[in-house]
Amino acid sequence: MTKILLSVCLCSVLILAISTDDQYHTHDDIDGLVDSKTKSNMTYREIMLQFADGYCAIQEGLIYQDKTIIKTGALMIQDHPAPKSKPWNIMKPSDQEGFKQSLLYYDEQIHKAMYKIEQSLKTDDWLEINQNIHELSKSCVSCHMTWQNKPIK
Ligand code: HEC
Repeated sequence: MTKILLSVCLCSVLILAISTDDQYHTHDDIDGLVDSKTKSNMTYREIMLQFADGYCAIQEGLIYQDKTIIKTGALMIQDHPAPKSKPWNIMKPSDQEGFKQSLLYYDEQIHKAMYKIEQSLKTDDWLEINQNIHELSKSCVSCHMTWQNKPIK
């Protein structure tokens, strides 16, 4: 009995792992992450400004209960390009390794939150949509607490 239960559990975990993988693409190495984005002539800061525009659109859509505006804002964040120079070049050499780890970690967190936002947009549960948008802004805020003031000027 325990054996059956155990294999059912294992199967569910496996299925969950496989389906999670389909939901959003994650990266294990930083070069793979950067290479997966379209090249651009933008600076890292300009990409952040695009994030801010996307985030404002998401908030506007939330307040107006307009899913189209939310989706437009989400695309501005999800489909962001790679900056013209490697993103970690904005940091001093001793900070670069740590910033790379944060880029990988928050890329996953943001895509996860986006996936949850997309799923909740299929419903009319605006409290749940709001909650998932909050998950997104948590990533912005916590990365900023560590890194926003660190770039070399
Ligand atoms: C991986 C860490 C990280 C994440 C995640 C992140 N940011 Fe940033 N953000 C930064 C850093 C570093 C700067 C400072 C860039 C600079 O000064 O060159 C910054 C700066 C900014 C700025 C200020 C730009 C300026 O004019 O100085 C805005 C606005 C911004 N981010 C928006 C966002 C939004 C919105 C999100 C979430 C959707 C987000 N960021 C997620 C690291 C991050």
